[in-house]
Amino acid sequence: MAGDVVDLILADHRKFEALLRDVRDVEKDRKAALEELSALLVAHAEAEEADVYPRLRRKDAIDEHEAEHSKEEHAEGHEALLEVLEVDDLDSEAFGEAIEKLTKELAHHMDEEERTVLNPAKTEVPEDVRQRLGVEFMRNRQKHLDNDCGSIENVRRLVEEAKQDNLI
Ligand SMILES: [Fe+2]
Ligand SMILES: [Fe+2]
Repeated sequence: MAGDVVDLILADHRKFEALLRDVRDVEKDRKAALEELSALLVAHAEAEEADVYPRLRRKDAIDEHEAEHSKEEHAEGHEALLEVLEVDDLDSEAFGEAIEKLTKELAHHMDEEERTVLNPAKTEVPEDVRQRLGVEFMRNRQKHLDNDCGSIENVRRLVEEAKQDNLI
């Protein structure tokens, strides 16, 4: 049992925030936190795009504009993530600037998604559908995690694809 897709997505969002805190905390394993964050961000976004947004559209919980806008924000997030991953020295000013930008982009997207996508999903999609969608979301998310989706090579590939698709 994976659970309600809305709860699963919200739990990931809170995990992103916790990992970002670890990435800036000298007493934590910052490199490990960053690797985990990178993989989770990519797997989460891919699974939302593949399973969640299309299903919510079919249920008329969100419209095409909202789905497309979320994809653009994922692409912007991946671009900001790539800038973070490209800096080797976690104590450098460049790293600080890159992580600040990623933090802002992520906060913006999570705020918008929670208000304009997850709220309608709660009110307009039946519980049993949200449960089924939760299983699909976790399965797809795990598939990406198993394929090392947070590696710098994969994030670079996703950013290139997004550019070709004019998402960024
Ligand atoms: Fe999300
Ligand atoms: Fe998202």
